[in-house]
Amino acid sequence: MNTWVASCMVVSGLVLSLGGCNTMESSSATMTGEQSLYERLGGKLAITAVVEDFVGRVAADSRINGKFANANIPRLKTMLTEQICQASGGPCTYKGRDMKSSHAGMGVTGEEFDALVGDLVTTLNKFNVGEREKNELLGALGR
Ligand code: HEM
Repeated sequence: MNTWVASCMVVSGLVLSLGGCNTMESSSATMTGEQSLYERLGGKLAITAVVEDFVGRVAADSRINGKFANANIPRLKTMLTEQICQASGGPCTYKGRDMKSSHAGMGVTGEEFDALVGDLVTTLNKFNVGEREKNELLGALGR
């Protein structure tokens, strides 16, 4: 639980700071002239493909898939795509619930959290996401 709360705080902070860098709507570059993480990840289509693979991996992972037994998977995919898009500086607005309330009462353990992040890393490796982008994304999502 402590891990979760701490992670959520990091997520919120990074979403805000990345969002703040992305003030030029039609530009793919940040204020420093560098491409945003969103651009470097390959944009919305690439993020959608990553989420598709990742959620499939979670669904097949017996360490954590019990927690998703009653989940609305199509909604989860949409929300994760929006969340990653926004957190990486892309032109999306995350319209889902905040991390604390959407995971409240689930009793997510540190081991389960690590298992889910491990599944995400496996997906990112499969898509040949670079080390820098991987670290930035994991940071933005609370690692
Ligand atoms: C970096 C870690 C995580 C992130 C960024 C994340 C992100 C999200 C997002 C964006 C949603 C959708 C919220 C909404 O429906 O409004 C969600 C829901 C959910 N998450 Fe997570 N999550 C993380 C970790 C975990 C872990 C470790 C578990 C369990 C092992 C988990 C289980 C769930 C479940 C069961 C739902 C609810 C689905 C539903 O009600 O339809 N999440 N998560």
